[in-house]
Amino acid sequence: MPDSTFPAVRLRRLRRTETLRRMVRETVLSTDDLIWPLFIVPGNGVEKSIGSMPGVSQMSVDVAVAAAKRAFELGIPAVLLFGIPPEKDAVGSAAYDEHGVVQTAVRALKRELPELVVITDVCLCEYTDHGHCGLLSATGEVMNDPTVEVLVREALSHAEAGADIIAPSDMMDGRVGAIRAALDKAGFDQIPILAYAAKFTSGFYGPFREAAESAPAFGDRRAYQMDPANGREALREVALDAAEGADLLMVKPAGPYLDIIRQVRDRFPHPLVAYQVSGEYSAIKAAGQLGWLDEERVMLESLIAIKRAGADLIITYFAPTVARLLAR
Ligand code: PBG
Repeated sequence: MPDSTFPAVRLRRLRRTETLRRMVRETVLSTDDLIWPLFIVPGNGVEKSIGSMPGVSQMSVDVAVAAAKRAFELGIPAVLLFGIPPEKDAVGSAAYDEHGVVQTAVRALKRELPELVVITDVCLCEYTDHGHCGLLSATGEVMNDPTVEVLVREALSHAEAGADIIAPSDMMDGRVGAIRAALDKAGFDQIPILAYAAKFTSGFYGPFREAAESAPAFGDRRAYQMDPANGREALREVALDAAEGADLLMVKPAGPYLDIIRQVRDRFPHPLVAYQVSGEYSAIKAAGQLGWLDEERVMLESLIAIKRAGADLIITYFAPTVARLLAR
């Protein structure tokens, strides 16, 4: 045991200069870590800003290709596509239309930017007129297995269009295994699945629902997304998706769930993705615009915290801003 003659501990010795700090820095944010979400709408030359997400727009395919090109040139390796279809119905049939917005965007992106990794979000909430992530029973409950069948069709249509990674975000039970089996059977055994494994029902998705026009017409998503109070259950969700063949695992949202990210990191060897969601982005943006927070500093701090917690990759609307900063 140290006694009174033991030298005083001086942790500040290694903090004195920027070069020293740089040498002992434990976590580094790289452009390679970033995945940029895009909202694809029908039409040509469309770029419509989203009120609750300053700096983020819905884009038609041509505009999205140009934006993705700039992002790839900045070093961002991947985009994540969401589609806003021209028409919605009760069963989300636009989700698996081979000429749908996402399918068209995937083909255009892969043609123009073959090296860019194109990830597609697989879910029904953007495609159903009621805004829920699956098919409804007569009593208005989201039915699990019939929904999985439609998700499988959607995933296959994305793979056929040329998607590099399929990312189911619906939170139905068994969908990762079902999608894996269908992809393999159709000859897409080389396409990885990024499972939204621990996805919590979150108020932080608010701005996304404006961006994706996917707010539920009634009720909420508590009967399929996870209760924010449950950490152990998150590990069961992750274990199940891993067992069903997920190649990459995701925790979502990111900032308020750093404990979950850390626990998944410690227990599963898979690459781990964290989604810094719309509300996390908008909160930082809004406080920055009000002058209440230093936006750039808080943005970088929020992303470093997510990496320090154990994420390998981060889906973030800040991706182009961060990439430009890191390139300086
Ligand atoms: C569902 C989906 C959502 C998000 C990603 N995929 C919305 C939801 O579950 O309501 C949220 C992303 C964000 O808030 O940035 N397709």
